[in-house]
Amino acid sequence: MSSGAIRPNELWDEFKARRTKLRELWDTRNSRIDAYIPAEVRGTVSEKEAIEGNLALGRQASDYVEEACSFARYFFQKGIPRFQKKVLGLGYGRGYDRFWTEYAIRCGLEPIWIDVSELSCSFAQSEFNQLLRKARKNKVDTGYLTPATMIREAEVEEALMFPENFALNLADVRIWYLCRFLNCLSQEESKKILEIIGRSLSAERDPEKGNIVIVVNAFKDFNPQIDEHPDPPIVHTTHMPRYHSVYAHLRRGSGRNLVARHIVHFRYFNKLVTAMMFMAK
Ligand SMILES: C[S@@+](CC[C@H](N)C(=O)[O-])C[C@H]1O[C@@H](n2cnc3c(N)ncnc32)[C@H](O)[C@@H]1O
Repeated sequence: MSSGAIRPNELWDEFKARRTKLRELWDTRNSRIDAYIPAEVRGTVSEKEAIEGNLALGRQASDYVEEACSFARYFFQKGIPRFQKKVLGLGYGRGYDRFWTEYAIRCGLEPIWIDVSELSCSFAQSEFNQLLRKARKNKVDTGYLTPATMIREAEVEEALMFPENFALNLADVRIWYLCRFLNCLSQEESKKILEIIGRSLSAERDPEKGNIVIVVNAFKDFNPQIDEHPDPPIVHTTHMPRYHSVYAHLRRGSGRNLVARHIVHFRYFNKLVTAMMFMAK
């Protein structure tokens, strides 16, 4: 090992410190009803409007994931056991976009959410308890699923770099779902994470070209009028991704050409939020 190399213990300590810091920041933020109001309109909308606006976006994003699940169900029907294939959601937040979780279960896809915030994971825990109870009452086969199998309290870079430590098998992920997540990361973090995710679209992992990476976010390309500025205490939160850089990092991870299908815009307060599905071309 060269003198400049990071030893595993140092890397581990670094991840731990980062996880603790992010957990504190996001627990504080997730505790606020107006947690996800765009900085530019904060203070000008009521709590009720804040919740309604977030729920409306969450419903639209969820419907969008449901379409992808229907496609995946059709595409991967060929004798694959229920819940072998996963939908991996990054960032549960206050659960505004939780609705697709139930639909994924009905389709036989195992939903898993990753969030670094303990509070967020506790919201998810009580939501999924109820959801599973309701599903069983309605005679839906929920297999081995429990809230614990559906939630990973983890920092995403760490979880994707060491998936086996978090009971994750990334080769089984058929749908990735990132709603309002990229803007929580620095550009450097986005790059790393998108490249890892892109591997799911590689010829080796996805020979049939059926895997999907769903990104739902305000993109700079469609919101040129919005100034990006830091929103303390989470400095990166107003970083708006650009379409070409998301494409380029996913493409680099996949090693082949991709296509963004089914591009849909949703109005969200003063912004346009755009949903797209990246797939192998
Ligand atoms: C803006 S919220 C979006 C939640 C939800 N998808 C929505 O649209 O309502 C982002 C969530 O990601 C989590 N998060 C932020 N950075 C993270 C990281 N590096 N690793 C894991 N979770 C993270 C936060 O705790 C927060 O709950």
